[in-house]
Amino acid sequence: MAVVRNLMLALGAASVAIAGNDDKLKSCLQYALTDSGRVAFAGDPFYQAADVNRYNLNIPVTPAAVTFPTSSQQVAAVVKCAADNGYHVQAKSGGHSYANYCLGGTDGAVVVDLKNLQQFSMDSKTWHATIGSGTLLGDVTRKLHDAGARAMSHGTCPQVGSGGHFTIGGLGPTSRQFGAALDHIVEAEVVLANSSIVRASETENQDVFWAIKGAASGFGIVTEFTVRTEPEPGTAVKYEYTLKIGSTEERASLFKQWQAYISNPKLTRKLASTLTLLEDTLIITGTFFGTEEEYEALDIGSQFPGTNGSAIVIQDWLGLVGNWAEEAALELGGGIAANFYAKSNAWTPKNLMNNETIDKLFEYIDSADKGTLIWFLLFDFQGGYTNDIPSDATAYAHRDVLLWLQSYTINLLGSVSQTQVDFLEHVNELITPDDYPYAAYPGYVDPLMPNGAEAYWGSNLPRLQQIKEQIDPQNVFRNPQSPLPATN
Ligand SMILES: Cc1cc2nc3c(=O)[nH]c(=O)nc-3n(C[C@H](O)[C@H](O)[C@H](O)COP(=O)(O)OP(=O)(O)OC[C@H]3O[C@@H](n4cnc5c(N)ncnc54)[C@H](O)[C@@H]3O)c2cc1C
Ligand SMILES: *[C@@H]1O[C@H](CO)[C@@H](O)[C@H](O)[C@H]1NC(C)=O
Ligand SMILES: *[C@@H]1O[C@H](CO)[C@@H](O)[C@H](O)[C@H]1NC(C)=O
Ligand SMILES: *[C@@H]1O[C@H](CO)[C@@H](O)[C@H](O)[C@H]1NC(C)=O
Repeated sequence: MAVVRNLMLALGAASVAIAGNDDKLKSCLQYALTDSGRVAFAGDPFYQAADVNRYNLNIPVTPAAVTFPTSSQQVAAVVKCAADNGYHVQAKSGGHSYANYCLGGTDGAVVVDLKNLQQFSMDSKTWHATIGSGTLLGDVTRKLHDAGARAMSHGTCPQVGSGGHFTIGGLGPTSRQFGAALDHIVEAEVVLANSSIVRASETENQDVFWAIKGAASGFGIVTEFTVRTEPEPGTAVKYEYTLKIGSTEERASLFKQWQAYISNPKLTRKLASTLTLLEDTLIITGTFFGTEEEYEALDIGSQFPGTNGSAIVIQDWLGLVGNWAEEAALELGGGIAANFYAKSNAWTPKNLMNNETIDKLFEYIDSADKGTLIWFLLFDFQGGYTNDIPSDATAYAHRDVLLWLQSYTINLLGSVSQTQVDFLEHVNELITPDDYPYAAYPGYVDPLMPNGAEAYWGSNLPRLQQIKEQIDPQNVFRNPQSPLPATN
């Protein structure tokens, strides 16, 4: 609880603080960025709130400087300036971390905003695409489309950045078929703590390659990704089954039916599904990647009696991605900044909630003081391709997860209250399996979690700490939850 209080106390702090009065850092960065790059120091006349640009207004961000390099060489020069002068460094790509890019790093990081790194090329022999790490997901979709109707797995919010997304997992509707976004990475260019620029792949700097696929923020700055791509999926069906209001028993029963349905190991990978619980609605949505006939043959509706169902057929990939984006905007406000707090939970096929726990969850939800009407629980069906990969093959460890929960509480008027936080914490306690280590998704950063690194990287944490010791012993790339060097 101490952690909760600390965060809450910090909430009143201004988003821009810490005077940039370190002349050595200043002159080093100004020299490094002479060629069209830019740097903004807190306290400078030209420093704008927009340079800091928080996504979660509930969490203060107080960098010493925000830099806007235009090349990998400039990124390396910025890292060198920071490391030589005793500053730590965090990258920023789309700026959509739930805890902002330096996780409320109030101790004055040098931020490397990658928005100028927009390079793109497609190798039409291998269909490998090279993508600058400042590219937002919406632009990734469009560029891959324009370069030969190609696609890759990623999440549904177009304002999220590839830099933060491809390096923490990157789960989306096609992940059951094609893997997480990071499973597409075949090579990356990375700036390390000693400011060298290296290529990392299965055959070169393998440890760096392994670490950036799931935990990059503590290991370096990826300036460019090379990814495998797939042909764009063709026809798809978007479906929706809604239960408006409903009694506690009806809702619990529908959840049980959905969980039983998605935990059938034979269920097709072409089906994506999410169950969303809101103040007065339970809704099952998803995409089936196939024709209307194939969809009808699945007869999903009969699984969820008592709901109102509807489905639309979408023929083109860009239309489908646009449709997901609209949905994401409805759920999370999309790219728009707000005060919120979020947590994640995971279940494997072996430790799914039993009927008793599900009943308790719905009883608690229907009786709890939530401190807001704007809360929701999103249960995402995972499994499939992402789970074909061994958990030690990439830093991203959660290869056995069948079901993820993202829980959110939002305050449109001001700071998130303790009542709101308590609601999510109690949901979390109720549903976390006792006999399993707690697993959290590295992409849904939860700054109040006491053992963040263990929850994000699980059994891969010891190897991450070894690699950290090797390539960043001074802990130049850090935030409050990144892995520490092994000897610490
Ligand atoms: C509206 C919304 C919808 C989302 N939907 C999904 C979804 O469908 N599926 C899913 O998996 N996730 C989803 N997420 C979570 C999202 O993937 C993560 O928040 C992601 O880390 C954001 O990346 P970013 O570049 O926008 O954020 P940033 O805040 O810029 O970066 C996030 C973290 O990554 C680090 N980082 C950024 N770029 C680099 C780089 N080039 N090299 C090294 N480290 C880097 C930063 O230092 C920071 O620690 C969603 C988030 C939001 C806000
Ligand atoms: C289905 O829709 C109808 C008409 O909008 C509504 O009256 C009914 O309550 C809905 N049923 C469920 C289960 O949501
Ligand atoms: C759990 O509930 C479902 C639906 O209500 C029921 O079909 C199933 O038999 C129950 N399982 C157990 C183990 O009681
Ligand atoms: C920088 O660090 C990497 C990883 O530890 C190492 O391989 C490389 O030799 C170092 N480069 C320099 C110039 O010291």
